[in-house]
Amino acid sequence: MKLLEAVSLNKKYGMKRGWFTSEARSVQAVNDVSFSLESGETLGLVGESGCGKSTLARLLLGLEKPSSGRVLYRNMDYTDWSFSEMRQIRSRMQMVFQNSLASFNPLFTVEQIIGEPLRNYGERKAGARRILVADTLELVGLEQKHIHSYPHELSGGQQQRVGIARAIALRPELIICDEPFSSLDVTLRKQMMDLLQALKRELGLSYVFITHDLSVVNRFCDSVAVMVQGEIVEKQSGEGLMQQADHPYTRKLLSSIPVQDPRLRRKDREKEYRE
Ligand SMILES: Nc1ncnc2c1ncn2[C@@H]1O[C@H](COP(=O)(O)OP(=O)(O)OP(=O)(O)O)[C@@H](O)[C@H]1O
Ligand SMILES: [Mg+2]
Repeated sequence: MKLLEAVSLNKKYGMKRGWFTSEARSVQAVNDVSFSLESGETLGLVGESGCGKSTLARLLLGLEKPSSGRVLYRNMDYTDWSFSEMRQIRSRMQMVFQNSLASFNPLFTVEQIIGEPLRNYGERKAGARRILVADTLELVGLEQKHIHSYPHELSGGQQQRVGIARAIALRPELIICDEPFSSLDVTLRKQMMDLLQALKRELGLSYVFITHDLSVVNRFCDSVAVMVQGEIVEKQSGEGLMQQADHPYTRKLLSSIPVQDPRLRRKDREKEYRE
């Protein structure tokens, strides 16, 4: 069953004439992007800074409207839905941000942050909310004592866990993660990827996982789309991409992944010189 579908999505931003530019210009942030995501799948979206990943995420979440093209959720075309109409699917489609701290209300405790989507989407009884928040906290590996903490009292890893907890509080079907762990160190990043994987199994989630780190995607994603200047230039399985990348940009991305064994690294470099 197709969970999410993008059909020829385009997003063009107009740039006004400024002090240093004599002409009005425009940026094609997303250029004719089409893909579909099956229920239970993880799609990786990889590309360099400015290639349009976050813009695409906003279009998929209905936070911005495309200049042209369609977005469909379970075959429902929600491209032209208003903010209030989007409520029908917003509880099923959530997001994890790169910097969770910036997306939290600093005056809210962890309990209020995780409980907010529950309150917004109909769980009026405080007692029932408290139980759901406690369950969710456990699912993301946070201790119950953190329930009364404020976000700034938590470590970066704990803050990202709260971000994930808020995203899963409503038990959605799909989570769009926009570079969720790029500010964390390698060990923590691995732990968080394992957490997402476990949640996928436990809650039957699907993910669109945005990253510029190709090394994480082959283990985690069923398929990977590579974006260059707003366009998807290549899409194949994570394994396939590691073994046989077709687009020169993907090969460049692959060659920039650090290799742990220095002998392998030398071999790679020699091969590059020969080519
Ligand atoms: N609201 C906006 N108005 C004008 N231009 C925008 C707007 N949002 C994004 N852009 C432009 O669209 C292009 C794509 O931006 P976007 O943030 O989607 O890239 P990205 O791939 O997410 O980059 P990063 O990896 O750095 O987060 C950029 O050239 C950016 O300047
Ligand atoms: Mg971005």
